[in-house]
Amino acid sequence: MFNFFNLMISTAKATSSYLPIEASTIASDVDGVYNFVMWVSIFFFFVLMGGMCFFIYKYRRRTDNDKTAYITHNYALEFLWSFIPLVLLLVAFFWGWKVYMKARILPENAEVLNVVGKQWMWNITYSNGKQVTNEFYVPVNKPVVLSMTSEDVIHSFYVPSFRIKQDVVPGKRTQVWFESNQMGTYRLFCTEFCGTAHSTMIGKVHVVSHADYQEWLAKKSGEGLSPAELGKELLTSKGCVACHSEDGSPRVGPTFKGVWGKQETFTDGSTVTVNEDYVRESVLNPQAKVVKGYPPTMPSFQGQLKEEEINGIIEYFKTLK
Ligand code: CUA
Repeated sequence: MFNFFNLMISTAKATSSYLPIEASTIASDVDGVYNFVMWVSIFFFFVLMGGMCFFIYKYRRRTDNDKTAYITHNYALEFLWSFIPLVLLLVAFFWGWKVYMKARILPENAEVLNVVGKQWMWNITYSNGKQVTNEFYVPVNKPVVLSMTSEDVIHSFYVPSFRIKQDVVPGKRTQVWFESNQMGTYRLFCTEFCGTAHSTMIGKVHVVSHADYQEWLAKKSGEGLSPAELGKELLTSKGCVACHSEDGSPRVGPTFKGVWGKQETFTDGSTVTVNEDYVRESVLNPQAKVVKGYPPTMPSFQGQLKEEEINGIIEYFKTLK
């Protein structure tokens, strides 16, 4: 019995370690409810299956004369197998409800970030106008509210370490909040199937000190970079690399490696040698010419990139021989 108890404890520890790190103020509450439901289920699985096997053996038919006893009912047993599950269910319900309310009611004085999901990227806009894609920063120990909507289909914003998950719906605003209590970098996933490149719609949340956050927030992106360096940074920060590789490997879209000066063939059979005009058109109006063998799924970056930024991307392409 003692060994069994030890086994249960070590299994419980192993179980908690294969959940993602708890990095928000509600994470341990969510895990508490989860573990309660899981361990109650595991406990009663053994009680019920063990009991069933025991009775199968104990009351097996031994001779041809064995007859099933005449049983009607047993009030004490029936009361117990109704009352115990009822109590467990009510505990799970009220505990879960309490945690749900904590997770759903938005706090005052929060940092509000606007999030727009679209195929296949997350655009995040801060109150000072700073806009980033897929990778963003938040301060530690400060509540953050995400005010979210979608430009096309339903996406879902999911940061496992924060234990938050919220659908992002076109034509509707949904909100979710979190307060991270641990500095670090955490994965962001889209967790609603949203098309060809759904699995690449991932990002990172950096939780940093207030000072580092203020410094990052005040910094304009691309400051002090050469045009090619700016282009390289934009391919990551605008999420281009989710669909286009820089090393020649195939993804949803054509690779950027060796694209400069290459002869491209399009779905309508026409061809173009990749130059400044073609790159600019592909960024602003991607459907105008779709490379043969690839889906016409790239979103337009009209209004999201300045001319100098498009020039930076062109300069960077030139270096990708
Ligand atoms: Cu967006 Cu899946």
